Amino acid sequence: MKIKDKEFALYLTEDKLNKRCKELGGQITADYKDKDPLFLSVLNGSFMFLSDLIRHVEFTMEINFIKLASYLKDKSSGAVQEIIGITGEIEGRHILVIEDIVDTGTTCKYLSGKLMEKKAASVSIAAMFLKPDVFLNQYPVKYVGFEIPNQFVVGYGLDYDGYGRNLRDLYQLKQ
Ligand code: IMP
Repeated sequence: MKIKDKEFALYLTEDKLNKRCKELGGQITADYKDKDPLFLSVLNGSFMFLSDLIRHVEFTMEINFIKLASYLKDKSSGAVQEIIGITGEIEGRHILVIEDIVDTGTTCKYLSGKLMEKKAASVSIAAMFLKPDVFLNQYPVKYVGFEIPNQFVVGYGLDYDGYGRNLRDLYQLKQ
């Protein structure tokens, strides 16, 4: 699979991704069914994970979106830019942040700090992918779909330079 100037190889199939969403949805249902949580989806990348995950959550919930950016092409810039900020009432709410992928964890740390400042009752993170080799563990990720090696991935909501988000499977950059 070629996207712009780079070659990618199939890494995780749609079927595996769907099965894992079902399992995570079951866990989140059990943990949050009596808490009226607010799901906070981090755009752009999390839209596909969010839409698969919430179909397996057995209660109705409020969903909000924020837009952050920390990546330029295929490299982390280290700084988080808030493009669409946090709106709505956070104080006293149990917040479940929905992330596509956690790499260094800079985005999670930034966001959890902001939410705690706004007096959230609790802040937990659900991420479809986590790269343990580079994760700095400054804030725990409670729900992880798959731990993956430290290689750039694309598809299932994730992009390379804006492209590839619509791919149903996950692809890994060929070295
Ligand atoms: P972190 O702040 O270093 O944890 O980076 C998290 C953000 O970087 C994610 O929400 C993605 O937008 C982006 N990102 C990290 N790794 C990848 C990747 O392998 N492919 C595409 N985007 C990535």
